[in-house]
Amino acid sequence: MKAPASSGGARLRWIYAAFAVAITLIAALIWWDAAQRSDGRADGAVPDMNDARRIAEGKRVYDAHCAACHGANLEGQPDWKTRRADGRLPAPPHDDSGHTWHHPFDVLFAITKHGLVPPYAPDGYASDMPGFGGRLSDEDIWNVLAFIRSRWSDKVRRTHDELQRQVAAQRAR
Ligand code: HEC
Repeated sequence: MKAPASSGGARLRWIYAAFAVAITLIAALIWWDAAQRSDGRADGAVPDMNDARRIAEGKRVYDAHCAACHGANLEGQPDWKTRRADGRLPAPPHDDSGHTWHHPFDVLFAITKHGLVPPYAPDGYASDMPGFGGRLSDEDIWNVLAFIRSRWSDKVRRTHDELQRQVAAQRAR
């Protein structure tokens, strides 16, 4: 009677092992899904955008990945408010003359990471703005946004700081 008992034990061990693998897979899937959706920090907080190192890093990111379309001086493409023949919009400026500063940071972060996809644009919206999620880390994206912010006038920066405070207070509720 020894053999059946030990083979039963072995079967139980297999069941436990399979169970453990399944749990690990499910946990990994949940984590992956959350990671895909997380825009920046889990707590939704914005890092220190005045940090000089962050701004300097952000300039490097900007020159390498954004300047070609948004302009070396953040001036955007000519006639940026007029759709081209193909129905797409040129790249807008990121300086005071654009509307980047009309948006809170989580929106700018999401557009930079995912491109102009819902909820920031209609489903299937055709745009030249790429999503940088595969090429830039979350930290790179915060850095480039800090650089863009550093180029706004004091007045625009104060207006955006206030917008940011209001949005943060609203979302904390
Ligand atoms: C290939 C060209 C191209 C590159 C490169 C590019 N963009 Fe854009 N971006 C666009 C275009 C075009 C739009 C406007 C799209 C539209 O509204 O259809 C846009 C829009 C945006 C917006 C929304 C602005 C607003 O006021 O609504 C943000 C934010 C943005 N880009 C950030 C970036 C950042 C940051 C980088 C570099 C990491 C970058 N873009 C690189 C073409 C580009």
